[in-house]
Amino acid sequence: MNNIDDKIKIMIGQEELEKRIAEMGEEISRDYAGKELHLICILKGGVMFMTELSKHITCHVSMDFMSVSSYGNERKSSGRIRILKDLDEPIEGRDVLIVEDIIDSGKTLAHLIEVLGVRKPNSIKLCTMLDKPDRREVDVKVDYVGFQIPDKFVLGYGLDYDQFYRNIPYIAVVE
Ligand code: IMP
Ligand code: MG
Repeated sequence: MNNIDDKIKIMIGQEELEKRIAEMGEEISRDYAGKELHLICILKGGVMFMTELSKHITCHVSMDFMSVSSYGNERKSSGRIRILKDLDEPIEGRDVLIVEDIIDSGKTLAHLIEVLGVRKPNSIKLCTMLDKPDRREVDVKVDYVGFQIPDKFVLGYGLDYDQFYRNIPYIAVVE
């Protein structure tokens, strides 16, 4: 593995991060009160965020998982996505919340919404742990944002650096 242990620095500590995730869960609970909410985790980066978030949602929740990759190289989205693992269940008529780790150019999500939109969900909203607004190339409406961060490469809490560091329980920046 590419060891960068001595180059990483905490950007958002675990306590601050999880406090904000709890708030997001409470907000989502209010917005979907009395409804059934279908959470769709975008693998792999969204997994830690979604599990933590779901613990703070009080309405009935079901979960599904999807894995997509953008064509072209990992660091730069091409805008077209390839489905590596599709959802297990149909989403027709359901209230769907897509749960992402981070929005960068916005291309992945914009394309994903198109793909899922044709499956006729009752509603579809977006939730992201982190947002890098300075990097946006495509306009996507994000309904729930944990933190807006500057244009820096971050890792931890699901986010990887060459597939490692996803298990770090805080958001770190690579210096
Ligand atoms: P977008 O299509 O450019 O919005 O791509 C977003 C995806 O790029 C995220 O789901 C991450 O997988 C990846 N990504 C973007 N920025 C970072 C980062 O700072 N660290 C780790 N992964 C990132
Ligand atoms: Mg991702």
